[in-house]
Amino acid sequence: MIEQMTEKPATESNRLEEIAAGRKIEAVIHEQALEAEPAVEIEHFSLWYGKKQAIHDISMPIPKGEVTALVGPSGCGKSTLLRSVNRMNDLIEGLTIRGDILLGGDSIFSPGVDVIELRKRMGMVFQKPNPFPMSIFENVVYPLRIDGQRDKNTLSQVCEQSLRGAALWEEVRERQQESGLGLSGGQQQRLCIARAIASDPEVLLLDEPCSALDPLATGKIEDLIDDLRGDYTVLIVTHNMQQASRISDYTAFMYLGRLIEFGVTSQIFTKPYLKETEDYVTGRFG
Ligand SMILES: Nc1ncnc2c1ncn2[C@@H]1O[C@H](COP(=O)(O)OP(=O)(O)OP(=O)(O)O)[C@@H](O)[C@H]1O
Ligand SMILES: [Mg+2]
Repeated sequence: MIEQMTEKPATESNRLEEIAAGRKIEAVIHEQALEAEPAVEIEHFSLWYGKKQAIHDISMPIPKGEVTALVGPSGCGKSTLLRSVNRMNDLIEGLTIRGDILLGGDSIFSPGVDVIELRKRMGMVFQKPNPFPMSIFENVVYPLRIDGQRDKNTLSQVCEQSLRGAALWEEVRERQQESGLGLSGGQQQRLCIARAIASDPEVLLLDEPCSALDPLATGKIEDLIDDLRGDYTVLIVTHNMQQASRISDYTAFMYLGRLIEFGVTSQIFTKPYLKETEDYVTGRFG
């Protein structure tokens, strides 16, 4: 269970200074965020790179079928937390974790968990589009190929469905055999989203997916995220406060590896409980 904290706490002392001084602070999680049905539950999760602690005892649910934005200054642990959710951090040497992360109520760290299967249930898209050096078609059906799927009809069906889902079908339907590397940056990013949804995941993890894109391409990705809502649970890292307020249902504000405040986006942006959150989302620091 995640501890509930719904009362407006005293904000006389500066929490950010408290944190910088190494003192423990309690995250403020709004009631609506706790009431929503969770797809993922992060429970007292801490993470160390070697001796350096990057995540400090974070507990929060990720509401199912909704878009949750992770915001906070550079280096506060957003990517680390995102990569923990589908165990992408497993490969890093000297990593220590404590606490738990549940997907559909089950720990992702249980000994029986197949990490490859887990990552299929939680697709990930990175800051820089990373299409594979192969055709558009093969890029999309890659997750099925590694599963050994060879049926042509199935592959082309999934390819079309995923490209449609990623709002790229109309632009590439005639050039599916061409290299994915020949697409524009925005198209490449939508191709990566198509690949991520080809394995029909429950959760999509997006790490600043628009930061390398122009406003037009960014608009397309934002429209796409809007369409994915409901079918998928989306957890997105963004530096762009306007983007977070436009596309997310919930927003979590992090600072120095801690969760500071988490709630419904409109409330986080218009009347957060904490002054620190207000200062950050209005661009007063960070
Ligand atoms: N592989 C790693 N090894 C050691 N330290 C790391 C590693 N990855 C991240 N860190 C450190 O962990 C902290 C959190 O990094 P992280 O990349 O999660 O931050 P972030 O919030 O995503 O930042 P940004 O907004 O700049 O992408 C930073 O101090 C970073 O230097
Ligand atoms: Mg990052």
